[in-house]
Amino acid sequence: MTRVLITGVSRGIGEGLLRQYLARGHHVHAMGRSCPDWAVAYGSALRFIPCDMADPIALEAACDAVAEPLDSIIVSAADFGADAYLLEQIDPAAFARTFQINCISPAMLASKLKPKLELGEGRKIVFMSTGNASLSGNTQGAMLAYRTSKSALNQLMRNIAAEWGASGFTAVALNPGWVRTAMGGENAPLTVEEASAAIYGFCQFTLSPALNGRFCNTDGSELPW
Ligand SMILES: NC(=O)c1ccc[n+]([C@@H]2O[C@H](COP(=O)([O-])OP(=O)(O)OC[C@H]3O[C@@H](n4cnc5c(N)ncnc54)[C@H](OP(=O)(O)O)[C@@H]3O)[C@@H](O)[C@H]2O)c1
Repeated sequence: MTRVLITGVSRGIGEGLLRQYLARGHHVHAMGRSCPDWAVAYGSALRFIPCDMADPIALEAACDAVAEPLDSIIVSAADFGADAYLLEQIDPAAFARTFQINCISPAMLASKLKPKLELGEGRKIVFMSTGNASLSGNTQGAMLAYRTSKSALNQLMRNIAAEWGASGFTAVALNPGWVRTAMGGENAPLTVEEASAAIYGFCQFTLSPALNGRFCNTDGSELPW
């Protein structure tokens, strides 16, 4: 049984991962602004911790509410930054909010929960990244706040890998593929169930210390930085 903390459980890929882990008998600390009603049926296997990732004080309190050891953390919550999409329409507050949710809060989460991971087994930290975080892959522009904050998330992952790798931590930036969610849109080829099953398999069976510091797909193949 894995003791996992998942963010962004209210919908999309985070909800899909919540379903994958609960259905297989794992113990889940679920963070989000809300929790899907269906999950309540899992009783004590689920611990819902309400948290707005845009609020650092709320996040600190949410991390303090994690009482047990953790084996892995999966950060799925993210903001698409629709109000800071193009250079011509920069709203500094919206830009900063996307950075808070997509990079600064994940850094706080990892830092605050490090002691819980040290008490557990595995010490895995998985950040949901995206092909749009790739610097060399950016030939189209747009998605300004989303791209820049996710590239920063990749750099955060590299800091964790470099600083904590020798202590048995494994950190990766994972591209879930193009998934049919509110963020991915209706033309995406992967369903939430398909994507979350692949992510579950990656986190539980593929992810090992040999992958520490990688920016990769769910089959373990690497993406260009
Ligand atoms: N879908 C794709 O094709 C795709 C591709 C590449 C990468 N990704 C990545 O995969 C992850 C999941 O994306 P998705 O497609 O599942 O997106 P989604 O359906 O839009 O869901 C976004 C999730 O983030 C949560 N969230 C946003 N702002 C929050 C806040 N301030 N506090 C707490 N939670 C917040 C949402 O919660 P609320 O319900 O409370 O808003 C929701 O649970 C993201 O990191 C995304 O960048 C997705």
